Amino acid sequence: MTSGIDGPIGMFDSGFGGLTVARAVIDLLPGEDLVYIGDTGRYPFGDKPLDEVRRYARELAWSLVHDFGAKALVVACNTAAAALPVHELESELAADGLDIPVIGVIDPGSQALVRATRSGSVGVIGTIGTINSGAYDLAVARAAYGATIDLTSAACPGFVEFVERGRTSGPEVTLLAERLLAPIREAKVDALLLGCTHYPFLARVISEVLGDNVMLVSSADETAFALRDLLEAGGRRRDRTEGGTARFLSSGDVMWFENLGRRLLGPELCGAEVWSGGSPGPEN
Ligand code: DGL
Repeated sequence: MTSGIDGPIGMFDSGFGGLTVARAVIDLLPGEDLVYIGDTGRYPFGDKPLDEVRRYARELAWSLVHDFGAKALVVACNTAAAALPVHELESELAADGLDIPVIGVIDPGSQALVRATRSGSVGVIGTIGTINSGAYDLAVARAAYGATIDLTSAACPGFVEFVERGRTSGPEVTLLAERLLAPIREAKVDALLLGCTHYPFLARVISEVLGDNVMLVSSADETAFALRDLLEAGGRRRDRTEGGTARFLSSGDVMWFENLGRRLLGPELCGAEVWSGGSPGPEN
């Protein structure tokens, strides 16, 4: 099955974090339709075993293709992309007869990080699952093309929970940030990749803790550019330049998703629907 150019872009995250990527995609590709699933009923992904997250990622991906006719997928969650690398997901879909291009946030973010550094000393922060998977060590090395890049990584458990509760600033967030970001500060990096799609919502606090000399890099814009290129290369980009629609679904409390989601994303999130799971995808 090949979805036509009229199908929506399918996107998922464990919750609200992928909305940072959705925002960038809506701004860059206003003519495209978008379906976003926030798996808030099973969030957080970051401290779950990667096998479990892999299963969720498959279920979300297959649902976006089968139930919503997605023509391309954006894995707007670092943890999910670390658990199920996007090229593997794409191959699994192809093995199921589904010709659907997939992009994630890890490679676009790593490329932006390597471009941003002057000193070659960089950092990445993410969930426990993402950091322990080593996905960023590999992706940054790939992006560096043999140049020497010194990468310091730190897991930041607790950040996602603050965002999911709508707490993006305040003394408790700052206190946690000071503790978790200590290794990054000590490493004297000049660029830090926010390797969890929830973290851009905490950018102000992170920036206050690290100071002006550290450039914060978010993968959202880079991912949107990569998506545009992918759609164009595959002849899947719609002709129209405006009028795209956006649907938002959540597996948890829909009213909560709608209210906090609108605050985080903006007016395009004017309603949320229930996502009650989908086709499980292939057994693995
Ligand atoms: N936003 C997700 C990411 O980029 C993770 C959030 C979670 O722990 O569920 O990794």
